[in-house]
Amino acid sequence: MTNEQKKLGRRDFIGTAAAAAGFMIIKPQLVRGTAANSAIRLGLLGCGHRGTGVATSFANNTTARVTALGDLFQDQLEKGKKHFDDIAASKAYSGIDPKLMFRGPHAYEQMANSSELDMIQISTPDFFHPEHLDAVVTAGKHVYCEKPAGVDVTGSKRILEIGRKVDGRLSLEIGFQIRSAPPYVELIKRIHSGAIGRIDCIAGYYHATRNAYPPRGPNASPMELRIRNFYWDRVLSGDIIVDQSIHVIDICNWALKAHPLKAVGSGGRNLPDADWGNYWDHFDIVYTYPDNVHVSLNHFQGGDSLWDVSERFFGPKGVAEAHYSGVVGIYGDEPWEWEGSTSQVTSQPGHANIYAVHRGGGAERTAGVFHDALQFADAEKDKAFIASIVSGKYHNQAAKGVESALSAQLGRMAAYTGREVTWDELLASNQTYDPRVEGIDLSEFESS
Ligand SMILES: NC(=O)c1ccc[n+]([C@@H]2O[C@H](COP(=O)([O-])OP(=O)(O)OC[C@H]3O[C@@H](n4cnc5c(N)ncnc54)[C@H](O)[C@@H]3O)[C@@H](O)[C@H]2O)c1
Repeated sequence: MTNEQKKLGRRDFIGTAAAAAGFMIIKPQLVRGTAANSAIRLGLLGCGHRGTGVATSFANNTTARVTALGDLFQDQLEKGKKHFDDIAASKAYSGIDPKLMFRGPHAYEQMANSSELDMIQISTPDFFHPEHLDAVVTAGKHVYCEKPAGVDVTGSKRILEIGRKVDGRLSLEIGFQIRSAPPYVELIKRIHSGAIGRIDCIAGYYHATRNAYPPRGPNASPMELRIRNFYWDRVLSGDIIVDQSIHVIDICNWALKAHPLKAVGSGGRNLPDADWGNYWDHFDIVYTYPDNVHVSLNHFQGGDSLWDVSERFFGPKGVAEAHYSGVVGIYGDEPWEWEGSTSQVTSQPGHANIYAVHRGGGAERTAGVFHDALQFADAEKDKAFIASIVSGKYHNQAAKGVESALSAQLGRMAAYTGREVTWDELLASNQTYDPRVEGIDLSEFESS
């Protein structure tokens, strides 16, 4: 126990140990004491860009304290310790206890089984999400798991099953923070209330700067290089459509309250740095949703200057539009514009013009550093998640997360194969990225 934990005494903390013995979780409101001992003990698994960003948001916006860290690599752990010790010092509580720092391929199991934690935030590369999530909920911990909920059909089905198993017993959140961004929440509410009429068609795009180059870890082994640069790796990331366009797809599913029934698509790799990694830098997908609603998705990830992510919803009464950095609004019979839409990062209403805002490329982007429309997304999501734990009204985003992951995989399968693929065919394929076949072996990281 850390000094701080000793000071707080033996806290109830969401019945972590009890939960390990078969999900017998004590209702937190029954056992939680004074405000002083209401801190949720958060373990961060994956101390990279996004993980650090989200855990910092938890530390700054909620009662959660980052009390444990896990990572495959020592340097990442040390960076994380310094960062979260500084936060702890600024808030006058203890930093990370070195005993609660877990390194190596089994860090996720050690964290999952620690009786010193109430929740775990999984921010590891996408390929590992199902396995890490399974261990965490099996040990009875609440979990915030980054998107995507699986890079292959088998992984996504596994997460769906995990979600069923823990429903009502634990909070399980998937990292779609845009569903908590106030401008998007208002826009979708208005769309659902009929502000543009029935959605006929959606045009979505994800235009991003190329992945930061050169790859991280030039003297690393081939496996370490792959892991440290997983965004370049189709299997570890699911490719850019499953890793990143998934946000656009998730917003379309949210607006349409459905998932696509089929997809056609194409894509490829046109990179100047084509000598490293195997991800595609562009995808063009046409999805068909129920009632013959069409969604066209264009993803391009290249160059250094433009970064913009948007959806345009067309209906008989108007058009709704949303950008991460820029306009979120409705034009037509029931006009509305989010008041932040005319901020300095947009040069003209109606057109997100964010040249230079995201200059710096992949490093800043992958850190999840967004502006304007997403400004409060993490804070809102994190507050709601912690409230769900404290109140015992648990969240379960597994099914929605899986639906969006499979929707992205549907587009990927259509593009990779160059033919129409249906939802049913995708599910029946049980597509599996087998670590043995894909050469993913972490045993070299066992000892330091
Ligand atoms: N919701 C969003 O907007 C958003 C934005 C960016 C990234 N993400 C997601 O966050 C996750 C992390 O992305 P990132 O940009 O932080 O990547 P990153 O490479 O910066 O961080 C990943 C961390 O995980 C560690 N790691 C790798 N394999 C591990 C393993 N098997 N066990 C333990 N630790 C391991 C790495 O050493 C690194 O510290 C990804 O799933 C990504 O899709 C989400």
